[in-house]
Amino acid sequence: MVIPRMPRREFLARMVGAATGAIAALLGIPAAVFVIGPSQQRTSSDWVPVGPIEEFPLDMPKLVNATVSKQRGWVVEEQELSVFVSTADGSDFVAMSDKCTHLACRVRYVEEIEEADGPGFFCPCHNGIFDADGGIVGGPIPRPLDRLDTKVEEGQLFVREL
Ligand code: FES
Repeated sequence: MVIPRMPRREFLARMVGAATGAIAALLGIPAAVFVIGPSQQRTSSDWVPVGPIEEFPLDMPKLVNATVSKQRGWVVEEQELSVFVSTADGSDFVAMSDKCTHLACRVRYVEEIEEADGPGFFCPCHNGIFDADGGIVGGPIPRPLDRLDTKVEEGQLFVREL
């Protein structure tokens, strides 16, 4: 068996090329992960305080506003969060977005809506009607009002987007 001989110059060129490729891979992959990684990250929303629980009246939704910082990749943006909070007993709370599920207009609470047989939420943009629990009553709305998580800590109510 004859092993072909490779000229020294060609052998060295191949070895330098292989070493250069290995070094580029060792440095390049972590650098790419460092640069691209954050842009692929999604941050989950944090709990947002919306007020002491005694400030929420019984059986009457209260609209609260809060500013939420959200990070998307490298960008941190501030968003306004508007939520209707209601409670029947002062200990269990329901939080619903005030954005209509049709085209995101702001809904408003109305104490008496004929179609809802009582109180509900009305969207003035296209006459969308939700009942007091955010359920669909009428108009072009595709789904009930979006709900948020709630929790109480040390007498403070917190909400979190799902
Ligand atoms: S945006 Fe509310 S009904 Fe269209």
